[in-house]
Amino acid sequence: MWRRMHPLSGIVALLTIASFWVSTVISELSGSEQAIIAVKQVIPWGLLLLVPALALTGASGFTLGRGDTSALIASKRRRMPIIAANGILVLVPCALTLALMTRDGELDAWFYPVQVIELMAGAVNVALMGLNARDGMLLTGRVARLRDPSS
Ligand code: HEM
Repeated sequence: MWRRMHPLSGIVALLTIASFWVSTVISELSGSEQAIIAVKQVIPWGLLLLVPALALTGASGFTLGRGDTSALIASKRRRMPIIAANGILVLVPCALTLALMTRDGELDAWFYPVQVIELMAGAVNVALMGLNARDGMLLTGRVARLRDPSS
């Protein structure tokens, strides 16, 4: 069960953060304040999917990797607390703050500093989760190693 659930929840978590990031950037590039505010109002609902997906990915990953001392698992294990802390301490508070700030349909002076922090934290998490997905697929042989690091 863990074996099926782990990559599924991992990919759901990765795609959720990536979709927050891409929709934020697209709304900013559109220059429409209405579009920016609409995206900020929707993202907290996406957190209801992201947070459980991330928790499930971590729990299933640590269960599957228990007792495994390989370098790939060690890297995945090391990244997970950073992903979780970045999510819980930065992304969730930023998303909720931005939604509250735009509740009245306006962007105040603190909107952009918080928005920049959220985009940076989101990019870090997409990268770390992408690396974990890649290492997972190297572990299961779904993707081939391009270069043998031991040679
Ligand atoms: C957000 C973080 C993570 C993502 C996106 C992720 C994603 C993936 C993916 C896509 C696979 C490949 C599954 C397949 O090819 O069928 C995988 C496998 C695996 N992952 Fe993760 N993973 C994450 C975190 C972790 C953590 C923290 C651990 C524990 C140290 C872990 C342990 C494993 C193990 C042991 C496998 C191999 C499972 C098997 O043999 O079927 N993962 N992961």
